[in-house]
Amino acid sequence: MRPLGRTGRQVSALGLGCASWWAQARFPEREAIALVHAALERGVTVFDTGPSYGCGEIRLGKALRGRDPDRLLVLTKAGTERHGRRLRKDFSPTAIRTSVERSRKRLGLDRIPALLLHGCPPEQLDERLAEALGELVSRGWIGHAGLNSFDPVALRQVKGRAPFDLIMTDYNVLRPQRAALVSELAAAGQAVLAAAGAGRALYALDWTGIRAPRDLWYWLRALGPSRTDWRAARRLRWLSEVPGWQPVPLALRWALAHPDVACVLFNTTRLQHLHANLDAAARELPPGLAERLPG
Ligand SMILES: NC(=O)c1ccc[n+]([C@@H]2O[C@H](COP(=O)([O-])OP(=O)(O)OC[C@H]3O[C@@H](n4cnc5c(N)ncnc54)[C@H](OP(=O)(O)O)[C@@H]3O)[C@@H](O)[C@H]2O)c1
Repeated sequence: MRPLGRTGRQVSALGLGCASWWAQARFPEREAIALVHAALERGVTVFDTGPSYGCGEIRLGKALRGRDPDRLLVLTKAGTERHGRRLRKDFSPTAIRTSVERSRKRLGLDRIPALLLHGCPPEQLDERLAEALGELVSRGWIGHAGLNSFDPVALRQVKGRAPFDLIMTDYNVLRPQRAALVSELAAAGQAVLAAAGAGRALYALDWTGIRAPRDLWYWLRALGPSRTDWRAARRLRWLSEVPGWQPVPLALRWALAHPDVACVLFNTTRLQHLHANLDAAARELPPGLAERLPG
């Protein structure tokens, strides 16, 4: 468990992302729910989803039915919604309120523990939007507000600002250079959650390892990101050669070593991966890793 910034709460250091293939209709709901239940049994208290992540909110709502939501940090997003293949963005206060209303229904929660603006551009992070979020907190519709962004300009714009208690950004082995910004935000009292904590497993992808439609889906998704990510991933091939470790749990363990990260999020669709990732939290980082992967 780790402190969640200035909120006074504690959360599990590893959190389960309820997005990606997990949230796709083609992934059986029964298996998706079983993963959430296994994570809960292992002490995971953080679950991250969003309205633009396929069936993510509905599935997570079903998986958590009957549990005490106040003991968990369920995060969802606002500002992006998927319409067919199109991703529509709207960060107007009205759209954010409507999105929260829909998310409450889909998640089956009167009060959503945490809401993050999903990739809001810096120029739209204005006072009206901050007030609208504050009002949702006062009304009791959301517990905490925050920003999910990979843009350092947007992140610095909300540094220390109310009501942005939570910041989700892409701190992972592909982006060790984010370490300093993570510390800046944490020093300003905000809880930093590391998105794509496994670095999308790009450094471990292997064509010969395609065994199921989900593997192909992740491969195709991996063709999307920038060449910079691929270059970083190629340089990290050695993660697969560290004795006694599998590359993804090792990458998660490395991200957890940052003292200012409140929670590292990963996504998985396989129970054995879930357990290997959670086991990594209790292991020592192998010697020399911090030097090879400086933050
Ligand atoms: N990526 C983004 O842009 C983004 C943005 C906002 C928030 N987030 C949050 O971050 C969460 C995680 O991000 P993500 O899904 O993009 O990437 P990720 O968790 O970094 O990587 C997921 C990939 O890692 C693989 N994996 C996980 N554990 C493994 C293991 N032990 N061995 C081998 N492979 C393993 C998964 O495959 P298997 O299913 O086979 O395990 C999947 O291909 C999301 O669910 C979301 O909550 C991400």
